[in-house]
Amino acid sequence: MTKDPVENAESGGERKGDAAGKASFAFKFDPSILIDPSCIKIGSVLGEGPGAIVYEGLYQSKPVAVKIIRPPKTTEVSLDCQEKFQREVSLLAKVKHENIVKFVGACFEPSMIILTELLRGGNLQKHLWGRRPGTLDLKCSISFAIDVCRAMEYLHANGIIHRDLKPANLLLTEGLNKIKVADFGHAREVISGDMTSEAGTYRWMAPELFSKEPVPKGTKKEYDHKADVYSFSIVLWELIVNRIPFSGRTNILVAYASANQIRPELDDIPQDLVPLLESCWADDPRIRPEFMEITSHLSNYHKQLCAAEAEPPAVNVPEAEHQESNVKEQEPPKVHMIDKSEEKKKAKRRKKCRSSFFLFCCRPVAVHE
Ligand SMILES: Nc1ncnc2c1ncn2[C@@H]1O[C@H](COP(=O)(O)OP(=O)(O)O)[C@@H](O)[C@H]1O
Ligand SMILES: [Mg+2]
Repeated sequence: MTKDPVENAESGGERKGDAAGKASFAFKFDPSILIDPSCIKIGSVLGEGPGAIVYEGLYQSKPVAVKIIRPPKTTEVSLDCQEKFQREVSLLAKVKHENIVKFVGACFEPSMIILTELLRGGNLQKHLWGRRPGTLDLKCSISFAIDVCRAMEYLHANGIIHRDLKPANLLLTEGLNKIKVADFGHAREVISGDMTSEAGTYRWMAPELFSKEPVPKGTKKEYDHKADVYSFSIVLWELIVNRIPFSGRTNILVAYASANQIRPELDDIPQDLVPLLESCWADDPRIRPEFMEITSHLSNYHKQLCAAEAEPPAVNVPEAEHQESNVKEQEPPKVHMIDKSEEKKKAKRRKKCRSSFFLFCCRPVAVHE
């Protein structure tokens, strides 16, 4: 991680009252991260989220993504929004990882703008939608999932929770072969005490963030970095089956389902990944594994997939045998026998892999509260 731009400045941004008693917000950024807005050239829209529009652009003639925060309507919202902007920029400026979108700079006047590297592959949600009703190649899905895990491992090791992990916040590089985690709008540093429950997007939100009873806006709840592991499990499920999680349910029904331990169905998930998914979306956050463990499991699984693909084809029957099998139709062909022994070996490998996963995933883990 680079030096904390907020620590470099005197303090983080803060709410103040001006001479007329009106509430205002004072941004505190290290001057080194501030950019000159007159040097930005804006092009076409790349995407948009609830609070911002992102454009393709040029900054000092270099390609960038330009995230412009929508101007808030009321003073109260405006203060929240500025505070959120201060946090998003401060965190993004601090992190440096090959699977996290690179920060270029920011400004808060005349608009709140964040510049990041331009990722021409677009977001994972669009990529997945473009493949429906088909799915991604399994090796590719797992490799994308590993990219996300590595970024999350790094964030958690540095005390940062993302809180909005979902395909729309995962960006693809131009070659469509690598994922980078983006959108730190909900991210925050792990703090002791309770955090606001309004973090994230329903379909990917951990059950501990929901309340079964209606609660006032801004209510604090106890949760930790394991909320990201739950969101990741839903992303992993989507990467494999390429369907909408909890499809047909409205947001409120998704929240209800998740809080009542209903999870996406596992029918189309490879057997080797079932225990992993089940532990990642466990109701009890303490059971969910750390990203380091998930990376290790998925990397082993990816290696297995590659090895299986590289294995010489089992079907290599000499011409004479072909003729023979044509004559004795009732006899099982030898090819089948070869396949079976291969299958046994693979099953043994899978079993070994699964049990070793359980060893590290089921031990009690420390919880930040
Ligand atoms: N660096 C980038 N390169 C390419 N596209 C981007 C980039 N950043 C954001 N986008 C696009 O803009 C969308 C919204 O960006 P995001 O930062 O998630 O905004 P919000 O905070 O409003 O959700 C993303 O889903 C993606 O399609
Ligand atoms: Mg977003």
